Amino acid sequence: MLIHSASQLITLAGSPQRGRDLGRLGIIPNGAVLIRDGVIIETGTTLDLLNKYPDEERLDADGKAMLPGFVDAHTHLVWAGDRAVEFEMRLQGKSYMEIMTAGGGIASTVKATRAADHETLLHESRARANAMFSYGTTTAETKTGYGLALKTELAQMAVLLQLDHEGPLEIVPTFLAAHAIPTEYAGREDAYTQLICAEMLPALKDWWHHKAANKPLPFVDVFCEKGAFNLDQTLQIFTAARSLGFPLKAHVDEFENLGGAALASELGATSVDHVVKTSAAEIQLLGRSKTAVVSLPCTPFGLADAHYTPAKDLLAADAILALATDLNPGTAWCESMQFVIALACRTLKLTPAQALAAATINAAYATGRSATIGSLEAGKQADLLILSVEDYRHLAYRFGGNLVRTVIKKGIVYPQ
Ligand code: NIG
Ligand code: FE
Repeated sequence: MLIHSASQLITLAGSPQRGRDLGRLGIIPNGAVLIRDGVIIETGTTLDLLNKYPDEERLDADGKAMLPGFVDAHTHLVWAGDRAVEFEMRLQGKSYMEIMTAGGGIASTVKATRAADHETLLHESRARANAMFSYGTTTAETKTGYGLALKTELAQMAVLLQLDHEGPLEIVPTFLAAHAIPTEYAGREDAYTQLICAEMLPALKDWWHHKAANKPLPFVDVFCEKGAFNLDQTLQIFTAARSLGFPLKAHVDEFENLGGAALASELGATSVDHVVKTSAAEIQLLGRSKTAVVSLPCTPFGLADAHYTPAKDLLAADAILALATDLNPGTAWCESMQFVIALACRTLKLTPAQALAAATINAAYATGRSATIGSLEAGKQADLLILSVEDYRHLAYRFGGNLVRTVIKKGIVYPQ
């Protein structure tokens, strides 16, 4: 299939974009893409490709902008229930961490998720996956973390794998048993840490070989934060995970700085996420590291907090910056990377081009998938979007709507 007549074909060709290099869109005006068997064969101008492939089946982009599908590098897609009551409590002055230490927060979603059967969990999560896809997300990293016991964490993982199998949204799985201390382990944080290291991670590896042997191992993530896992517990979990061959991700510096960014990047984590209260020294360290920084501006926005990732400083230090929704029931129930782009331009002071690169090629890097997705280049998976507008900057300029007209996933066309 030849998709032609795109006002702007935004290829984002090249490698993940470090520091001030962020925002190289690689635009081909009046562009076209040739796709066969779900893979990109060639990109070029409409004139060249129509001449070269006159007999190919055609799809007219109708003078609108075309770009890679969004990669959402951090979501907690699978949960049951909602926390609208807590949102109202926060508006009345209670903080996220106060609600969490009083047994609400993540614990209340754990309760609802543990109680939900497979079908309920699948049904509620599928609705969100479909919404994400309709807003142009073609691949999403997504975490367990509302089970906090082996059986229930694996039940969430099973939902995740089933959603990936159903498609069209493709899922990159992450195991997040270290999301919170379960209430039955209150006051025994080290015992829960030990349980994760000695029992859950080895059992996850066995389970994976039975259920998903052909897929790469999932990421192991830790919420390194006061009130969740401290630096020493984070180190223990990462050491155990790494020795079993799991790649790493970390939630760091969302509310307080514990040194998690330095620890995770030194251990070779694929990404560190949130990165709000990060120290100047750690920003310099991340600038020299291969670990991506995933900024989640919906989270402070969702919490009505004024502190955002210091994106300008990270870019000046040469870090690899990516964006994601953090879709979750507590802080950021948002399925739209378009909204994230609009928000990032206003709160992180990114240009529209920088935000777009952070939501595609760099987000692919942050999920370990930049060899196959995140840009429009020969040999990559044919995951792309046709917008309803001619100029990509509308993705940042406008907000709250849906400017995606057509989503193409592995070469299959889904009109929206
Ligand atoms: O990334 N910080 C930890 N996890 C989520 C919130 C999850 C929840 O509140 O349910 C986050 O913000
Ligand atoms: Fe998160």
